[in-house]
Amino acid sequence: MIIFLHNRILKNEGIMYRLAFGILLIIHLSGEELSAGIALNNHHEQDREELLTVLPEKGPYLSCVTQNSIIISWHTAALDSSLIQYGLTADCEYELKDITLKTAHSLKLSSLLPDTTYYYRILFGDLITQTYTFRTAASFGKGFKFTVIGDTRTQADSHLAVINRLIEQNPYFSLHSGDLVEDGFDEAQWTTYFAIICSSATCAPKIPFYYAIGNHENESPLYYNYFYLPHNNPDSVESFYSFDYGNSHFISIDTEIPYGPSSNQYRWLRNDLLSAYDKTYIFVFIHNHPYCAGGHNSDLDLRDALSPVFESFKVDMVLSGHSHFYQRNGPINGVTYIITAGGGAPLHTPAESSWTVYTEKSHHLVQFIIYPDSARFQMIRTDGSTGDDFVYFSRERSKLFFGDANGDTSISVSDVVYIINYLFKSGSAPAGGVLIGDVDCDGDVLISDIIYLINYLFKSGPSPGC
Ligand SMILES: [Fe+2]
Repeated sequence: MIIFLHNRILKNEGIMYRLAFGILLIIHLSGEELSAGIALNNHHEQDREELLTVLPEKGPYLSCVTQNSIIISWHTAALDSSLIQYGLTADCEYELKDITLKTAHSLKLSSLLPDTTYYYRILFGDLITQTYTFRTAASFGKGFKFTVIGDTRTQADSHLAVINRLIEQNPYFSLHSGDLVEDGFDEAQWTTYFAIICSSATCAPKIPFYYAIGNHENESPLYYNYFYLPHNNPDSVESFYSFDYGNSHFISIDTEIPYGPSSNQYRWLRNDLLSAYDKTYIFVFIHNHPYCAGGHNSDLDLRDALSPVFESFKVDMVLSGHSHFYQRNGPINGVTYIITAGGGAPLHTPAESSWTVYTEKSHHLVQFIIYPDSARFQMIRTDGSTGDDFVYFSRERSKLFFGDANGDTSISVSDVVYIINYLFKSGSAPAGGVLIGDVDCDGDVLISDIIYLINYLFKSGPSPGC
């Protein structure tokens, strides 16, 4: 049961100081957070002389931010109700409460203002966290900044160095390209993971994260229990999903489950891309990599299955993890492939290919600053220095229709003729990309597509597409 309360008066509970995991990670407070904490002290608890750094067992951490809502999650050692105070000022004038006793807490704040900074704090047991801030999503015309990290597993000190750099960049949100931990079934590794991202450095409490699941998570239920991710697919699963932010569309793909033309994920991806044509940028984030020189090298099955989809729908960038270094490849048939997997794991040695533009063996993050018609992209090392740095311009993209091989925005017998010419008379590839001619959604343009289209046009067969 969730209850809304207003203007709750805090009890004066004196100084309570608890560390969640028995290890003190680097305390790194920005001026904004410090002032928020002091405001809390001055307003409610005059006898406190120092900022509290109380944390629940795990969290708080943020998910699924939209222009009007956000999910805030945390875990407590003992059964407890769920209580968040929040508002437009550090007074946190609103409350959201679920009186159900539990240890895994997650509340969705709704009816928020777009592109607005909110303050919040968590109350658990007799304790209260410091006051954090989050920012609701930007609207279509507004610029924004996001970061990408990947493969944070194994080396906690390197992971923490990347996280501290990420905090310095102050993104609106961050993507993670997978392999958060080395063994997704090992609870102790998740404890370390959350200790790093939810330390007093206020990374996860302030910055929403979106994840692409990696092979080291191994589809563990712990991953799905901890994270709340979009699940806008027919299977209603959190392993593959998409979301919009500002003028951009983001797609997370799960390379640990079937993704080929006969899979639900493939059919969902094509339909999702079909409806994203009007976004300025389309970013795919995915653990494995279709193009990679060195490390684990290119995954050719993945390339064969999904690169034609990325090309047909004019995806701007594919952001991968898996091979522990930084690498920019392409554009290859219009698509730029970036590997960002220097989040903490032991580094691999990169190589170079004909399509490699920049490669570097270092722990790092990448940062995108999105403008209405261009984007600044930077690879940033843990010492703050910049490696790869370029300006990217959005791609021209128009609405596509499966079966509209000649690109005249309607499906007719002329499209049947066009595909016959393409297959048997060296005619041009279907306008808008080869896969637009793949009307039966089997991943290729074959004679079966001609039959399918004739059935649709003249025998009331099913519509083209997945
Ligand atoms: Fe991996």
